[in-house]
Amino acid sequence: MSLPAEIDTFADYLSAHENKSLLRFLTCGSVDDGKSTLIGRLLFDTKLLFEDQLATLSNDSRKHGTVGEDLDFALLVDGLAAEREQGITIDVAYRFFATDKRKFIVADTPGHEQYTRNMATGASNSDLAVILIDARQGILTQTRRHSFIVSLLGIRHVVLAVNKIDLVDFSQEVFDQIVADYVEFAKDFGFETFLAVPLSARFGDNMLERSARTPWYSGPTLVEHLETVPVADDALARPFRMPVQWVNRPNLDFRGFSGTVVSGSVRPGDPIVVAGSGRTSTVKSIVTKDGNLAKADAGEAVTITLADEVDISRGDIIAAAGARPEVADQFAAHLIWMHDDHLLPGRSYLIKTGTRTVSASVTEIKHKVDVNSFQKLAAKQLGLNEVGVVNFATQQPIAFDPFAEVPQTGAFIVIDRMSNLTVGAGMIDFGLRRATNVHWQALEVDKASRAAMKFQKPVVLWFTGLSGAGKSTVANIVEKKLHALSRHTYMLDGDNVRHGLNKDLGFTEADRVENIRRVIEVSKLFVDAGIIVLTSFISPFRAERRQARDSFEAGEFVEIFVDAPLDVAEQRDPKGLYKRAREGLIKNFTGIDSPYEAPENAEIHLSAGARTPEEMAEEIVAYLTTNGYLA
Ligand code: ADX
Repeated sequence: MSLPAEIDTFADYLSAHENKSLLRFLTCGSVDDGKSTLIGRLLFDTKLLFEDQLATLSNDSRKHGTVGEDLDFALLVDGLAAEREQGITIDVAYRFFATDKRKFIVADTPGHEQYTRNMATGASNSDLAVILIDARQGILTQTRRHSFIVSLLGIRHVVLAVNKIDLVDFSQEVFDQIVADYVEFAKDFGFETFLAVPLSARFGDNMLERSARTPWYSGPTLVEHLETVPVADDALARPFRMPVQWVNRPNLDFRGFSGTVVSGSVRPGDPIVVAGSGRTSTVKSIVTKDGNLAKADAGEAVTITLADEVDISRGDIIAAAGARPEVADQFAAHLIWMHDDHLLPGRSYLIKTGTRTVSASVTEIKHKVDVNSFQKLAAKQLGLNEVGVVNFATQQPIAFDPFAEVPQTGAFIVIDRMSNLTVGAGMIDFGLRRATNVHWQALEVDKASRAAMKFQKPVVLWFTGLSGAGKSTVANIVEKKLHALSRHTYMLDGDNVRHGLNKDLGFTEADRVENIRRVIEVSKLFVDAGIIVLTSFISPFRAERRQARDSFEAGEFVEIFVDAPLDVAEQRDPKGLYKRAREGLIKNFTGIDSPYEAPENAEIHLSAGARTPEEMAEEIVAYLTTNGYLA
């Protein structure tokens, strides 16, 4: 994570405390657990607040504070007006403070239900998690979810901060019960260190100094613990990995590979392997702008030169020769979904591992996990904040390690192709071998020769539009005209395909995605056969139409938007389905209670309300003739 606005202060801060060890931790808790107060108190009591910040704080406390004349530490942290108004913290904020023994960076991540995404962002850089609980509430679903995500993200040190202990009269009984519940729930998470501490962030009990009001508590205070908890940097002990950021070739004599060493270390003379190709060499030199190094450790950005000419490009991983990463195009993973739009198997996403981004889709959701009971539940999709175990297929093979072995090369994010938003975070469990033994058989009669024999250029005419817009009617006329011109065609029609190949699918979002995925695959086969394919499906989602387009070569995909306004289609209602949908007898009906995302860049846009099917079919045939499909 970068610290754009704070970078100067941050650099100053680091240099002032250069010789102290650094602990990076994150705080997670529900909205009212007092997280901001806790962080404010840490910053305030360790005296790392600037004078002017203090002045603002006491002013603000009088204006907004909910704690009378005391300083309201939450206001210090909840710096944004919007947050104050909503009473929640949004986005990840990094704060830093120091004590005599250690320096700290704390990722302040929001506790609000919708913001798991930010929590995962903060967690990916943290050694330890402080999980905050309101002593009056005990363990909530949120607590469980956060703890589960913390464990999934590989954080091995956890503090359970049982806050607001003053509001339960400093009761040992309440504290013990919460701790017992938590320990039972978290027993399989494999935390290396765990401390539960009774706190009042507001009054400072057991924050820095031991509180006289909890005489029954003999453990360390929160800050004592944070100062001393041993968090060895495991990255150094792991095998050497460097994802290549760019190939540095300023002139013909120099060829170096630049990137950040993400795990292990490397020295000149070390044998290496290029993960993807399996080519080996040895490290010749490790170059930085400050001169050559005798060794580079995890975390350092360097340029490596090799003893041999080896083909390496951006996105490859240079690795220790004795511990080559896995390479596969299918893998099993734990996935945390972070977006309101569900994860749908079959939909094409981008996944980013290290410096590599590839197209990928989930081929199967094995199960999702109930964060309260850890039960495995059957699922066809994953919703916001849900965690599932899934299989992924990537378009090209990628190099990775199981997350448990090397988290740096075993984690990935999922990006939505349309919005470019990060919608999921994943941890690879293992590669799936089943596809690695299946290769492409080279065939000597190819698409071009099949098409040449038919005197045509194969193409998919992808009709999209509402039910009743006239897709199938127009497509049918087009096919008749092509037939009359002795062209070889095939028609894939929504209703018809649903009687056979897609008999098992209904009209949920997930099923429609799968419906279109199969139609794309079948269309690819027909195009390969040299055929002109007409597909007539509502295909309501942009993501799948984009996926369809991306599945074909340039010129092989022609999107035809049969654009009839909803009221026109509904008035026609050729199958009486709109009427039934309006009566609530059909669920998820496109245009009624399921969306239709209109195309933005269709090759052919037909205003189907105003023209006859015959005219529209003419226009399509003319398009094919003009663009050389019917040579
Ligand atoms: S798609 O959305 O998955 O592309 P597809 O084109 O295969 O849909 O099937 C649409 C046809 O199924 C419609 O023309 C209509 O005859 C019928 N149908 C039955 N139920 C629905 C529904 N809930 N939504 C849309 N179409 C439905």
